[in-house]
Amino acid sequence: MSSAWSWYISIIVVANILACVWLIRWTNKKRPGEGAAHETTGHSWDGLTELNQPMPRWWLWLFYATIVWGLIYLALYPGLGAYPGMLGWSQYSQYEEEVQRVEEEVAPLFAGYAEKDLLVLARHDEAMQTGRRLFANNCAVCHGTDAGGRPGFPSLSDDDWKWGGEPEQVLSSIMDGRQGIMPALGAALGEEGVEAVTAYVFHLNDRDAPEELVERGRGLFSQQCAACHGQDAKGNQALGAPDLSNDIWVYGGTREAIERSIREGRAAEMPAQKDILGEHRAYLLAAYVLSLSMDQRPNGSESDHAE
Ligand code: HEC
Ligand code: HEC
Repeated sequence: MSSAWSWYISIIVVANILACVWLIRWTNKKRPGEGAAHETTGHSWDGLTELNQPMPRWWLWLFYATIVWGLIYLALYPGLGAYPGMLGWSQYSQYEEEVQRVEEEVAPLFAGYAEKDLLVLARHDEAMQTGRRLFANNCAVCHGTDAGGRPGFPSLSDDDWKWGGEPEQVLSSIMDGRQGIMPALGAALGEEGVEAVTAYVFHLNDRDAPEELVERGRGLFSQQCAACHGQDAKGNQALGAPDLSNDIWVYGGTREAIERSIREGRAAEMPAQKDILGEHRAYLLAAYVLSLSMDQRPNGSESDHAE
């Protein structure tokens, strides 16, 4: 807090308290003598009048007590600008203490999980329930609550992987993050080139496209695209270049979406969780992500990795 704000707040707080004291004293100054006990406010409703009596003393003292209580509170707790209070309490320190306490409780649990093999952990019910909660809190914003993905964010529930689906590859995606960059090739290909290569991508996915365009696209693909997506268009997991022949799309499979990917390029970033969640939680999440596609794995049968 800047010192100008600090003073501003302090002055307002003190001025308010002083104003309260003054108000109480002022309203109470005119204590009428005994004789004036029947003075009225002058209001009258059908003959009923309102007496103008002073505040009872006990009530008055209650007001003073509140003010004293307020002053003690201000001395002990933060309230006067940048002054931290004698107790040194703050909601941040309280929050941090609580986080610290919870962390101490759960840390051994996560550490225990991190010693298990990923595929074994992926079959551990209790661990996977914790994994689901962690996923909902930390990953669902981008990948969706069901991990099904959405435009720009890959699905994690199928067995199609941009960066690889082996346990250590999934772990690395989560732990260290990923950055996939598809360069903008509109200028290099020209509008006709973009159309042709899109026709070829259509053809790779068994969709209708004019034959002659497909043939031109085939040539352009091996010059411009194969280096990253592979000669057979099956992708390259080292670069995060996706398979372009399996009709699974991160950015959409319409003609417009594919043309746009080629013309303008795409960039995706998976934030590294090692520093955000810590290694043990990231490890548990890798197991959770693996568990989602377990039944689709060629060698993921129950007997192979029974606990
Ligand atoms: C800010 C959005 C965002 C958050 C949060 C996020 N991810 Fe991602 N994630 C991405 C993007 C974008 C990609 C694709 C990266 C690329 O291709 O370069 C990705 C890729 C991945 C991949 C690789 C997928 C593949 O096909 O190879 C895995 C695994 C993954 N994320 C898991 C997670 C987990 C687990 C969490 C929660 C800790 C998480 N992500 C949180 C955006 C996010
Ligand atoms: C330098 C490597 C590189 C080159 C060259 C390259 N790509 Fe890509 N491409 C990528 C990467 C990496 C991604 C994933 C980008 C992302 O997720 O943000 C991608 C994504 C795409 C996508 C989006 C896929 C989806 O799931 O929505 C299409 C379509 C595509 N590329 C087509 C092409 C075509 C056609 C060419 C040639 C004209 C080409 N790429 C050239 C690396 C490359």
